[in-house]
Amino acid sequence: MRVSFQSLLLLGALSAQASAYASLEYQQQTFPEDNAPPYRVPLLTLHRALVNVSSISDSEGEVGLLLKRLLKDLNYTVELQPVPPSEAGQGPDDRPTRYNVLAWPGRNASRALDKRTIITSHIDVVPPYIPYAIDNETVPPSEVVDFAALPPTTLISGRGSVDAKASVAAQITATNALLSEGAISPDSVVLLYVVGEENSGSGMKHFSDSLSNSSAYPVRPQFRAAIFGEPTENKLACGHKGVTGGTVSAVGKAGHSGYPWLGKSAIHVLIRALDRLLEEDLGSSERYGNTTVNVGLIEGGVAANVIAPAASARVSARVAVGNQTTGGQIVAERIKKLIKDVDSEALQVNITSGVGPVECECEVDGFETVVANYGTDIPNLKGNHVKYLYGPGSILVAHGDNEGLQIKDLEDSVEGYKRLIKHAVGSS
Ligand SMILES: *[C@@H]1O[C@H](CO)[C@@H](O)[C@H](O)[C@H]1NC(C)=O
Ligand SMILES: *[C@@H]1O[C@H](CO)[C@@H](O)[C@H](O)[C@H]1NC(C)=O
Ligand SMILES: *[C@@H]1O[C@H](CO)[C@@H](O)[C@H](O)[C@H]1NC(C)=O
Ligand SMILES: *[C@@H]1O[C@H](CO)[C@@H](O)[C@H](O)[C@H]1NC(C)=O
Ligand SMILES: *[C@@H]1O[C@H](CO)[C@@H](O)[C@H](O)[C@H]1NC(C)=O
Ligand SMILES: *[C@@H]1O[C@H](CO)[C@@H](O)[C@H](O)[C@H]1NC(C)=O
Ligand SMILES: *[C@@H]1O[C@H](CO)[C@@H](O)[C@H](O)[C@H]1NC(C)=O
Ligand SMILES: *[C@@H]1O[C@H](CO)[C@@H](O)[C@H](O)[C@H]1NC(C)=O
Repeated sequence: MRVSFQSLLLLGALSAQASAYASLEYQQQTFPEDNAPPYRVPLLTLHRALVNVSSISDSEGEVGLLLKRLLKDLNYTVELQPVPPSEAGQGPDDRPTRYNVLAWPGRNASRALDKRTIITSHIDVVPPYIPYAIDNETVPPSEVVDFAALPPTTLISGRGSVDAKASVAAQITATNALLSEGAISPDSVVLLYVVGEENSGSGMKHFSDSLSNSSAYPVRPQFRAAIFGEPTENKLACGHKGVTGGTVSAVGKAGHSGYPWLGKSAIHVLIRALDRLLEEDLGSSERYGNTTVNVGLIEGGVAANVIAPAASARVSARVAVGNQTTGGQIVAERIKKLIKDVDSEALQVNITSGVGPVECECEVDGFETVVANYGTDIPNLKGNHVKYLYGPGSILVAHGDNEGLQIKDLEDSVEGYKRLIKHAVGSS
């Protein structure tokens, strides 16, 4: 539906949100479709601006600065927390600084964290960069898009469009809506967008450590609750599996392949061990299902006619048993034992204890629930707060070249976040 400039001004006056994102240039040529929410245009404009910037883990400098600008325009008090590169010595030393972005509602707001609900997600993405597209058509960065005119089933895609820039855009939009409705008080929430979630959790770990070791927080703040944004298809997650993993290596004795009894094949031993590992029941629970194993990388041997003197494999297990503290250790011990049972002399296991399943609060009216099989930053934020995990889009496309979601999924998640934030802020 086309509308006049006059009604546009009216819309702007009715919705504080429409005037937001001043540093993002967008033109609103039409009213949103009949059932489109008032935040349609600022939401999609913000989402597009975030996806537009490449922010592969360890190169998140630019997106952090962009987010700071956008949040300042929305009258947040913003602090950038520099985070060291996750793997020192990798890549050039002059990589731009990357930042966690912390934002408190209100200009010159108090930077207290204690008793606030922290609303958080991550701004890094997996490689490679994939440009922003609408219905599978790449949109040049400078092209103006009339978001209001798009049907709700429109597919918006690009790297990070789901994981997790959809969560970032929806959380900010939901928080703004609640603040402008007066449904929550500005000192009840704080936003945190971290780097490094996809490769090491370095951003959240750094933030969490900074709370115990800084002049700004002589006493470690206690959050009321933490809402983590990751793709859950707009279902409230009751938790996610833990993870443990490492290397299984085999040592053999080289020899001519025609005389196998003169040597010992490291590869043959390793194959038997891995077969055992894949067959074995590593434990299950009602909530999280089965512990599963992936053998992700194998190397070893010299040539087809040589008995392999060495071989190794990298394995990762998704842990469904025990609790956050004990689960990783339980599964790691089971793996060590069953590998040793195959051949304790030839096989070595180097496995980290990892983490067990992470439990989240999912008893909130009006949400479908789900259990996730992937890892998140939740265990990296230490503290005794209520945890929630929720966000738009599907993990099944999140790291693929078809990463994307429909406009209505993104909009539904704003409504979901609004309910969840209100619940979290009100809960004790
Ligand atoms: C995308 O990024 C480029 C480079 O920073 C900028 O010129 C352009 O305006 C951005 N486009 C959008 C839609 O944010
Ligand atoms: C930010 O605050 C200024 C001054 O109080 C106000 O004019 C402006 O509308 C606010 N912006 C938003 C997006 O709320
Ligand atoms: C910000 O607030 C502090 C006290 O909360 C006050 O001392 C300071 O002058 C304020 N700064 C500005 C720029 O308003
Ligand atoms: C976009 O491409 C995917 C496959 O990559 C396809 O499933 C989908 O139908 C396409 N959507 C549109 C709107 O063209
Ligand atoms: C705590 O801060 C001090 C001084 O900044 C630093 O030397 C120390 O390494 C920090 N400890 C941790 C655990 O981060
Ligand atoms: C768990 O594993 C058992 C066999 O060990 C299988 O029967 C069952 O279907 C598996 N459950 C799920 C949810 O995959
Ligand atoms: C985890 O389980 C162990 C052993 O059952 C128990 O001692 C510990 O308190 C539990 N930890 C949590 C955080 O529930
Ligand atoms: C075990 O793995 C860790 C992490 O990958 C590595 O730092 C350590 O050197 C390994 N230990 C042995 C004995 O191979």
